[in-house]
Amino acid sequence: MPLANTTQHYGSLTKTFHWLTAALIITLIPLGIIANQLPYDTSEELARKAFLFSLHKTLGVTVFFVALARIGWAISQPKPAELHPDRKLETLAAQTAHWLLYGSLLLVPLSGWIHHAATTGFAPIWWPFGQNLPFVPKDNDLAHTFASLHIIFERVLAATLLLHIAGALKHHFIDKDQTLRRMLSTPKLPELAAHQSKAAAPVLALGAWAAALAIGASIGLFAAKDTVAAVPQLQEAPSDWVIVTESSRIGIATTQFGATVEGEFAQWTTEIKYDRDAPPEEKGSVRTTIAIPSLTLGAVTDQAMGFDYFNAPEFPTAVFEADIAEGGDSHIATGTLTIKDKTVPITMPFDLGFEGDTAFMSGTITLDRREYGIGDNMTDEASLAFPVTVTINIEANPAEP
Ligand code: HEM
Ligand code: HEM
Repeated sequence: MPLANTTQHYGSLTKTFHWLTAALIITLIPLGIIANQLPYDTSEELARKAFLFSLHKTLGVTVFFVALARIGWAISQPKPAELHPDRKLETLAAQTAHWLLYGSLLLVPLSGWIHHAATTGFAPIWWPFGQNLPFVPKDNDLAHTFASLHIIFERVLAATLLLHIAGALKHHFIDKDQTLRRMLSTPKLPELAAHQSKAAAPVLALGAWAAALAIGASIGLFAAKDTVAAVPQLQEAPSDWVIVTESSRIGIATTQFGATVEGEFAQWTTEIKYDRDAPPEEKGSVRTTIAIPSLTLGAVTDQAMGFDYFNAPEFPTAVFEADIAEGGDSHIATGTLTIKDKTVPITMPFDLGFEGDTAFMSGTITLDRREYGIGDNMTDEASLAFPVTVTINIEANPAEP
């Protein structure tokens, strides 16, 4: 069987590309749907879901590269002529489907890949290129948009594929012609006229994508996701120090499936008493209230708010209360941290410096999530590590008297 196409037959490379992509796509669609629907309430369930997603993503990225090679090859090859050039509408429908299929081979994996690259955390791609893409920042809104695009493009692919397969079966079983056999072998064919490309086919394919995007938008696929729990309105705390919000942050980091997942609380208030002239052991006190639902934690933000984790609907705030003392080169905050209904004593060393009157504080503390009843069902550290690092950076100015 010759490698290249002729004006009558598909060559062996075209056929290999065709059936390789067919096998990959027919595996990937159910894999994506199953992985998406699986629960992830325990370590075992999470590990199974992540395994299927990693497989889905890795095969999906493979499709992208196979598709690039396949399209490059198809462009360089003659197209075998239509077996029924007289059936104008059928030829147009078949060619529109081919445009949609070729396009989908790029759009579906690329949208999935960008969604993955814009997200922190969860199932990694087992691919030597790593988890990020150039020009794709970690951004939840971007990730949400591309997740929606992935679903829309994947639905267009699935619908087109059904019609494509139905067409192939119709040719084989009803018309009893050589259309399917020509994609499998090199059957004897009558003399065929030249291939005719229908200029309307790519235009119809673009129209089908535009219609699918419009339907996706109209059913709210691109709308901002509802948060699991409402962010509570925090009372402004009377404080001796006023926080410079632009440069102050409370961040957390943990490890999921060996990869670091980082996040930040957007809303918190803090009441600080600190007297530079006070004796070292009585420098002041701090009380910080954190709005738990204001946390963004990459792909697992919603999961983190759930019952097994922060249970944000029931416990929307965490409170840190401590006394501040000077100790050696740095300071120490000794007090308690309450998350959910668990109050745990903690001691946090931190650095404090001054530029003029402005204070700069930075401290890091590692907590064990199990002490706060977070992720109790995640008993396996390989799925979700026990330590959670909290990093606090605060810039503050003395309040006006
Ligand atoms: C069981 C599944 C499938 C069957 C039975 C099938 C069957 C066929 C047949 C018979 C042809 C030749 C059509 C002709 O000569 O006019 C064809 C062409 C084509 N198929 Fe499939 N196909 C399948 C899956 C797929 C998949 C998954 C894709 C890609 C996503 C795909 C993309 C294409 C394209 C782009 C062509 C046109 C090739 C060209 O002329 O360059 N097919 N298919
Ligand atoms: C041609 C290749 C691909 C196909 C056919 C495909 C197909 C699918 C399908 C059918 C779903 C389920 C959607 C639903 O439940 O309605 C899905 C979901 C998903 N796919 Fe793919 N996919 C492909 C490539 C990729 C790639 C390359 C990645 C990432 C690197 C990826 C990441 C995802 C993710 C993260 C989801 C879940 C989306 C969500 O959060 O709703 N996919 N995919």
